[in-house]
Parts: sequence; structure tokens; C-alpha cells
Amino acid sequence: MNNFVFQNHTRIYFGKGVVKEYLAKLLEPYGRNVMIAYGGGSVKKTGVYDAVAGAARTAGKTITDFPGIMSNPTKAKVDDGIKLAKEKDIDIILAVGGGSTIDCAKAIAIGSRYDGDWWNDFWINQGNVDFRQLPLGVVLTISGTGSEFDGGGVITNTETNIKTGRIYPELSPDFSLLDPDYTLTVPERQVRAAAFDTLSHLMEFYFCKPDTDNVSDDLLESLMRSQIRNFKATLANYKDYDARSNIEWISSLALCGIMGLAKQPDFDCHNLEHQIGAFTDCIHGEGLAVVTPPYYRWLMPYALDRFVRFAVNVWRLPSEGSNEKLARAGIDRLASFIEKAGLPTNMRQLGVKDEAELKKIASSVQTGPGSYHKCSPEDVWEIFKNCWQEREKIQ
Ligand code: NZQ
Ligand code: ZN
Repeated sequence: MNNFVFQNHTRIYFGKGVVKEYLAKLLEPYGRNVMIAYGGGSVKKTGVYDAVAGAARTAGKTITDFPGIMSNPTKAKVDDGIKLAKEKDIDIILAVGGGSTIDCAKAIAIGSRYDGDWWNDFWINQGNVDFRQLPLGVVLTISGTGSEFDGGGVITNTETNIKTGRIYPELSPDFSLLDPDYTLTVPERQVRAAAFDTLSHLMEFYFCKPDTDNVSDDLLESLMRSQIRNFKATLANYKDYDARSNIEWISSLALCGIMGLAKQPDFDCHNLEHQIGAFTDCIHGEGLAVVTPPYYRWLMPYALDRFVRFAVNVWRLPSEGSNEKLARAGIDRLASFIEKAGLPTNMRQLGVKDEAELKKIASSVQTGPGSYHKCSPEDVWEIFKNCWQEREKIQ
């Protein structure tokens, strides 16, 4: 295996009733002022906010609310949060929500303890967290991104149309409380998108070098099969606790750092999707569903053996016929799974208006260094054109 360094300091509390059981105790060691960050109001409707605020009061804390964090959180929203955190002398942020709320809280955690330009120094460029950022705790209400168990944060600058993510091990939450019951109120469309996001994270780590025998690939295949099985069970019954709790834990595992050890992913499906999101504000997992099959059809000739392995070990296709046919059949199975799951399959469904806008988005994409093959601007344009027409290709 390649060399690696692994660090993840988040304590996970998983299962029914964990907020009531642990949150007040977990908050005790921190200072008095707690910021409760949340989204557009679902937590107020579901009662999750009351449970969290109740625990904070039990721990003797003074609460400052920071509501209204939108999906695909913006730089402007982070700026507001930084201002508030400084004004109220916040000691810990409690992010109550999903990836958007947690990512926004992570950027606030850095920006409120940094005097320079946080966006330029930590998001446009990879920075160095050589100071103690604000501590962060999480109460998860929608699973999928894995942000509750990683140091990643994705922020959109709506002035420059740049959506970009960075990973800082220091930003892994101190603790994350995962009660699968909390996710049962998530709208079905968001559940589907988030479940695909998790599958995409696993695939991003799988479709990259090295191809030498690697325990990470075995773990990834096993988790991909489990995610597909539990995704199907969820589609059959969105209230299936076993399926939903498995999906929640797989989403945390996918990005906790262990799955990609010794691998060299470029996360290019995410790089392509992030710019579609920057222009259309589409749901992250839906953008990935559109981009992934055309991207893999482009990548297949550079990684034929890997796509054969995907077809046989993940989709359990019989190992017969030419490698090319088998590899293609694996991608077709993925595409047909996406369609059957009710996820979008082309750019128009994401809100891209016309070819001119598609061109603009394509030219703004920054791909990674490449793992099997570097994706050039011309390649991005070819892939995007195929995303425009994807539906016609599915048998
Ligand atoms: O805002 P509220 O009212 O809370 O409603 C939310 C939102 O509309 C709703 N929701 C969440 N929990 C609910 C609920 N509705 C009812 N009941 C509940 N229990 O769901 C909607 C989506 O929430 P959001 O947080 O936007 O979804 P998600 O967790 O998918 O996060 C998406 C963001 O995470 C980024 C994405 O790019 C996107 O910006 N990502 C973050 C990553 C990371 N930090 O590691 C990795 C990912 O690849 C991803 O890029
Ligand atoms: Zn993702």
C-alpha cells in the first residue's frame, strides 16, 4: 500500500435518543455561549430544535440562534455567521442539520478566529490552520454528505459563481450525534439525492489509482453493495428504520478518511457537479446523478479493468463476454439504477437553460490533477454535451 497519515478526532454517538442521552453532558466542558446554527426551519417543525436547545439550557448555556442557512451555503451567509459569532463571543457552534449547515458552521469556525480573508486564504487556496478554530458539535438531521465525520466544507461564492470545497482535519467536529429517527422527516426527493451522494463518494475513491491489491478497494466494494441494497429498501419504504440507519452510517463512513486511504482520487464527478451547482443551485446529489454516467463512459477506456471489476463485484454481473462489453454493462446498470431511483438524468432537469449556459458552466470547471486520466477542458465539454442528452442513451 502507499504511505498514509490518518487522523479523525470526531466522537460519534449513533442511535435512537442520543441527543437526549448525551448532548447536555457533551456541552458541559465548553464555555457558556453556544451558537445553534440551522437551516430554513425544518428543525423547528420537527421538534429537533427544542430537543437541542433544551439540552443546551440543561448544561447552563446561553443560546445564540443562527438560522436560515440555505442549501449550497453561500460565502455571504458565512460572513454573517462570523460577525455574529464575534459579537456574541461564541464558545462553540452546534450545527443542527445536514451538509449545508455543517459546512457553513465549519467556515464560521475558521473565519471567526482568523483576521485575514478566510475565503481567499482557506477556500480559494489551501490554508494552514495554525490557530485554534471555534469548536464544533453536530446534530445530524439528513445523512448523505458525511460532513458530520470529516473536515470538509463546501461553500459557494454567488458573486464569482465558484462553489469549492476544502478539507482540514482540524475541522472535523468534536462530536456528532446521529439519530436515524431524526432523518425520517426528510423529503423523499432529498433522501434520494443524499443517498446517491454517498454512493458517489464511494465511487470517487474506487475509480482511481493505484490498482495494486488494496484493502480500501475491498472495503469500498462492500460498502457500495450495502449502499445500493439499503437504497433500494429505502425506495420501497422510506420509513424503513434499518435501511435508513444503514444509509446514515455508510454516509459517515464514506468520507471519514478510512475509505480512501492509500488511494489517489481526483473527485472529478464532484468537481464537475460543484460548478453546475454554482450556476443553477441544484441539489448536490441530483447534479452528481446527471454527471456520473457520462463521466464514467468517458473514463472507461483509461480504466477498463477497474470498470470490469465494478461490473462483477458491485453489480454482480456474470463475468462473460469481452472486457469492454462487461465494463459498459456495469455503467449501464448504474445509469439504469439512477433512472429507476427517480433521480434526474440530464442537465435540463437540473435547471440548465440552454447550450450557452452549459458552455459557461463547462468553462468554469476546474478538474483535479487526474488519477486514471486528466480531464481536459475539451473533455469536460464533451461530457457536458452527453449529460444534455443522457436520457436517450439509457436502454
Ligand atoms: O433547511 P432546512 O429547513 O433544514 O431543510 C433541509 C434542506 O431543505 C432539509 N432537511 C434536512 N433535514 C431535514 C430536512 N427536512 C425535513 N426533515 C429533516 N430532518 O433537507 C434539505 C437539504 O439539506 P442540506 O443540508 O442542503 O443537504 P445535504 O446534507 O445534502 O448537504 C448538501 C451540501 O453539502 C455539500 C454539498 O455540496 C451541498 O452544499 N457537501 C459537503 C461535503 C462535505 N462537507 O464533506 C461533501 C459532499 O460531497 C458535498 O459536496
Ligand atoms: Zn458529495
